Amino acid sequence: MARDEPETRLPPGAARCPGPSALDIIRADSPGAPPALTAESYRFLGDSDISYERYTSPAVFAREMTHLWGRAWQWACREEHLPEAGDWIVYDLGTLSILLVRGGDGIIRAFPNACLHRGTQLKPPGSSGGASELRCPFHGWRWTLEGDLKFVPCRWDFPHVTEDSHALPQLKVGLWGGFVFVNPDPHAPPLETWLSPLAEHLCGRWDLSKRRIALHIQKELPTNWKAAQEAFLEAYHVVETHAQALATAGDANASYDIFSDHVTRFVHTIGTPSPHFEGKLTEQEILERMRIGDATVPEGGTARAVAAARLRRQLGEAWGVDLSPFSDSEMLDSIEYHLFPNMCLFPGVSLPMIYRFRPLGMDPGRTLFDLLFLKLVPEDAPREPPPEPVFVAADQSYASVPGMDPGLGAVYDQDTDNLAAQWRGFHASTKRGQTLGNYQEARIRRFHLTLDEMLARD
Ligand code: FES
Repeated sequence: MARDEPETRLPPGAARCPGPSALDIIRADSPGAPPALTAESYRFLGDSDISYERYTSPAVFAREMTHLWGRAWQWACREEHLPEAGDWIVYDLGTLSILLVRGGDGIIRAFPNACLHRGTQLKPPGSSGGASELRCPFHGWRWTLEGDLKFVPCRWDFPHVTEDSHALPQLKVGLWGGFVFVNPDPHAPPLETWLSPLAEHLCGRWDLSKRRIALHIQKELPTNWKAAQEAFLEAYHVVETHAQALATAGDANASYDIFSDHVTRFVHTIGTPSPHFEGKLTEQEILERMRIGDATVPEGGTARAVAAARLRRQLGEAWGVDLSPFSDSEMLDSIEYHLFPNMCLFPGVSLPMIYRFRPLGMDPGRTLFDLLFLKLVPEDAPREPPPEPVFVAADQSYASVPGMDPGLGAVYDQDTDNLAAQWRGFHASTKRGQTLGNYQEARIRRFHLTLDEMLARD
């Protein structure tokens, strides 16, 4: 069979790219990869098309607001955004606006960002700050940091208002990995149930609560939030979109796993050529294309091992952290977990990103993309305030952000170009849905199945 002919002798979803997979490469590295990294879990989930209407329809968008976002655990902020009593931050998504506040008792609470007098938002969208109480800017009603009604101007005119009837309603809050999650549904399952098995995987040296935000970028993406996210759930597009990376990045041999209805993962290796790469490179030539500075691959060595060792030393010295426990894969590879509905987490060292994809306003064709880099810090590092997000307009390059690696910024720009073209194609197509690969795009299918289940509920 020719290399690119479909494999018809195997059951659907069983075919794999010829040659070593990402996990084969990781197992051949020097020992030390944690068991979670080489865990495998895939099952075939169907091959029917995914309707474009799911992305473009205002009716679907409106149902997502109530049946998905009104019921889902969703990451609102990091704990480091609310270090002290009185610190607050606003989390916005579509029509949702939630005010998160650390109370005088140290507990983080979440309230709908709306006054109980006549509905005015208590704080502006996307804002944050510190306060000793919560005060509405319209008529001056006030609440304690814990949400208890504290003061009503002209109280004599409101005999029907009581402390019980007008305490700020509290939404569910859950903490994990340094992230603050909220859920507007009072009957929501515990956060721990929603996360499983992510928390079991991201523990020990992958404990993200011990990391701090080094850079936070917010970018408007010109498409529906689901399409924006899906572009980051597969490496299938690398061969066409990021062809500059083929000499040093695995793509078609990436590993894909579906661990639960909410948690999926891909792993693709860095420092190994793509199966699509047609040239022949020595390990020394691969290392030079990784652009990590002058180094020599010893006889019988690999570019991956040399690059990982160099990064261990360079980054360890720069951050004041002992990186010796981390395997070559953790130092180099793109290890991406997805947590339903809209969050991606990379526990690796040199690619330590966090993604979030949110509907921006009530337009199904606008997305706010949060891109964070979570850096390892020494155990005794002083707590510094997190950096303010740097906003990047839809037509502006990621590479324009101070502190952003220009090469990585160019890669994200290539992704953005795809999103705009795909959004236009959703509307122009006479074929009414997208066709997914059985393995490489299985995470997208898992996402839609879980979304379907939530949208179908009463
Ligand atoms: Fe808030 Fe009147 S609307 S005090």
